Amino acid sequence: MIKIAIMGHGTVGSGVVEVLSTNHASITAKAAEEIQIKYILDLKEFPGLPYSDLFIKDFDLIVNDPEIDVVVEVMGGLNPAYDFVKRCLLAGKSVVTSNKELVAAKGGELLQIAREKNLNFLFEASVGGGIPVIRPIAQCMAANEITEVLGILNGTTNFILTKMIKEGMSFDEALALAKANGYAEADPSADIEGKDACRKICILASLAYGRHVFPAQVSTEGISRVSSVDVAYANAWGGVIKLIGRAKKIDPNSLECVVAPMLIRNENPLSTVDDVFNAVVVRGNATGDVMFYGKGAGKLPTASAVVADVIDCVKHMKARKYLFWEDGCPDYVIDQDQSSTALYVRCKTADCEKAEVLIRDTFGDVEFLFCREAAAHEITFVTPQGQEGELKKKIKSLSTMLEVINIMRICD
Ligand code: HSE
Repeated sequence: MIKIAIMGHGTVGSGVVEVLSTNHASITAKAAEEIQIKYILDLKEFPGLPYSDLFIKDFDLIVNDPEIDVVVEVMGGLNPAYDFVKRCLLAGKSVVTSNKELVAAKGGELLQIAREKNLNFLFEASVGGGIPVIRPIAQCMAANEITEVLGILNGTTNFILTKMIKEGMSFDEALALAKANGYAEADPSADIEGKDACRKICILASLAYGRHVFPAQVSTEGISRVSSVDVAYANAWGGVIKLIGRAKKIDPNSLECVVAPMLIRNENPLSTVDDVFNAVVVRGNATGDVMFYGKGAGKLPTASAVVADVIDCVKHMKARKYLFWEDGCPDYVIDQDQSSTALYVRCKTADCEKAEVLIRDTFGDVEFLFCREAAAHEITFVTPQGQEGELKKKIKSLSTMLEVINIMRICD
């Protein structure tokens, strides 16, 4: 019998208890051991549950209990999760977490402690909810050089964009529904402003390229500036707008890493990923494109990934798993202005005809977009591919003629 502790009884924590209980027999068979929850740590009261007697409020009971082999951290946030997880590892306990904020900020350090202590620190649920993606990248694609990882990494924003575009729901209604379904973060601005997707692309990039990428190194934009008119222009262009996280290898010592709403062509499989679904595309030099798709948020999909990691820990109590990456360094991620992209540019102008001539003179081969939803005196175009900084300088050079409403990247 293996005894575990669960730290946190929110959406994911209660899902972990539910999955362990509902699938008890098959989980026992797969782990070749019975897994018993000894403690659930949470400061709130949960009276009337069949397992109410397991709740504790004192973390020391867990870290000092030699019977606890595996600790599940599903509290979220950096503090006190970082302190608790570190102390559990130092005390010789393997840790499973769904906490992307923790892994994105401190993953390298915690993996190092786990390695020194010959323990497991597993976090499959931290990216893509129930989609297996961490293990496949680390293990199944290990023979590849990975050139690029990109995807739709936040269920809440994808759900909101889908509801707004396909069902005409307002932003606030869609967000309220995402909250009610347990998709959104405790502070949903982390979803809306792209911070959650940023943490996830940091984890994927660290794993794919073996060096820690920190959230502060990633240029991050959310969806709050995307309007229904932008959506109509994207449709006229032949695509949709999605919040994309992307990490692209430039050379062994540098990486491009970005999170932003981008226009994607309808032919791109990512364009059809809707609602709470996430998808991650991994480009390997041997495999070509591999796409992982599934529910990226929600109680049971995320709990499923956590419990699978617990089973893995139980099966590998004396042998570490494969996850590891080196510490990060300051100039590892290039300035986004140096990256190569085409830009969607939507502007206001007093004179559309004159502006069109000027835009052609400045950029050469541009594609102008038209949609019925646009206000008068708007001019919208897609630039040719170029260095992002140079394209932005050119846009600025037209500022006497053009007032920019929105700029978005094109996802190639
Ligand atoms: N708030 C996150 C999302 C939860 O919407 O994707 C899963 O990480």
